[in-house]
Amino acid sequence: MENGTLTDQPTLMSGGNYIKEGLDSAKSTSLFFSPGEDECGALARCLELFKKHKVNLIHIESRSSFRIPGAYEFMVECAPGGNLGAVIQNLRKTSAYFSVISRNHKDNRGTVPWFPHRIRELDRFANQILSYGSELDADHPGFTDPVYRARRKYFADLAYNYKYGEPLPRVDYTPEETATWGQVFKQLVDLYPTHACKEFNHVFPLLIENCGYREDNIPQLEDISNFLKDSTGFSLRPVAGLLSSRDFLAGLAFRVFHSTQYIRHPSMPLYTPEPDVCHELLGHVPLFADPVFAQFSQEIGLASLGAPDDYVEKLATCYWFTVEFGLCRQDGEVKAFGAGLLSSFGELQYCLSDKPELRPFDPPQTALQSYPITEYQPIYFVAESFDDAKDRMIKYSQTIPRDFGVKYNPYTQSVEILDSKPQVHELIQNLSHEINFLNDVLLKITI
Ligand SMILES: [Fe+2]
Repeated sequence: MENGTLTDQPTLMSGGNYIKEGLDSAKSTSLFFSPGEDECGALARCLELFKKHKVNLIHIESRSSFRIPGAYEFMVECAPGGNLGAVIQNLRKTSAYFSVISRNHKDNRGTVPWFPHRIRELDRFANQILSYGSELDADHPGFTDPVYRARRKYFADLAYNYKYGEPLPRVDYTPEETATWGQVFKQLVDLYPTHACKEFNHVFPLLIENCGYREDNIPQLEDISNFLKDSTGFSLRPVAGLLSSRDFLAGLAFRVFHSTQYIRHPSMPLYTPEPDVCHELLGHVPLFADPVFAQFSQEIGLASLGAPDDYVEKLATCYWFTVEFGLCRQDGEVKAFGAGLLSSFGELQYCLSDKPELRPFDPPQTALQSYPITEYQPIYFVAESFDDAKDRMIKYSQTIPRDFGVKYNPYTQSVEILDSKPQVHELIQNLSHEINFLNDVLLKITI
């Protein structure tokens, strides 16, 4: 790998699936069903069914159905074991509404892959990582450094023990770590005015002002996360290792970015084989404070929820060529907005030279493009604007085979599954009230 190349491909391993199974809940299957209108004692009858087929239940919830007016709906989370197939067959036949969501969707054909519905459910897969942050490959610059390895374990443990809602861990970085950050920071800030997109250059001074971005200080995730929440509702959460594409993209659906907190090895300050705090804070963070970019990122995340594996891979590729290595056209010039570029002194200059090939960002084409992970990209995709990229992503998302829609509810920080006409009619009605309100306001104002 060339010096200065920064790649975090493992975070987005194409088509990647979790390798390590974590908690038992990750192996569970959730059943959603509604017995229909006004049926008394329905839950008790269903519970008998679970008992008969020796299926243990981890969690039960009931609520008024959004799908069938006047009816109740149950969500039952089943532990592995027992004859779950028989339960599913029976419930499917006798329920007015029935749906299965399973983490082990490959073993349960026809079911939707599990995905988080609420922001706190990100805790469930936060620790299902492809490799723990302290496990370094033999060619890693810190492989033979016991002090660095111990430090990496410290950071991995901090993230491993983190739970949603807690303040993000504050870290006392060592003078050596701060010096490494300083070297990267100093070189990159000289390039930003000429190489970075205008949205990046608008936000960067605000991070200096509000979050302690300085050559002699590594900013704290908690301060940055609070800044992002105020700007676009994005937040950070620490991650102990590499997540699968599916899990990483699911975080974006909730405007959550999984961020590392450790720094690269001091022996090679301009190189890192994996994402580190320089990459996250200098490359990613500034653009998550931009409203349109934030929405673009969330659209990729929402599109990934419950999508088939091959589509998750395609979405991860779109993410790669935008959020990681994207270029955009501004005032007749090409500028960088991808985090892999904005955190790499070498590639940031290379990507705007006449060496690489530039193609227009077009998700159906971009999603199929293969890419190297250990060298500078030979091909970059150029977005006309964040708005245009977002609209194209939304249009592309509509081609994903899913028999439901997802809508993010920012009040509850949850994802609503739209799979019945009454739900959609209600949303259309709410929207028409809002349009009436806005039309009314338009009539009142004169400028
Ligand atoms: Fe990244």
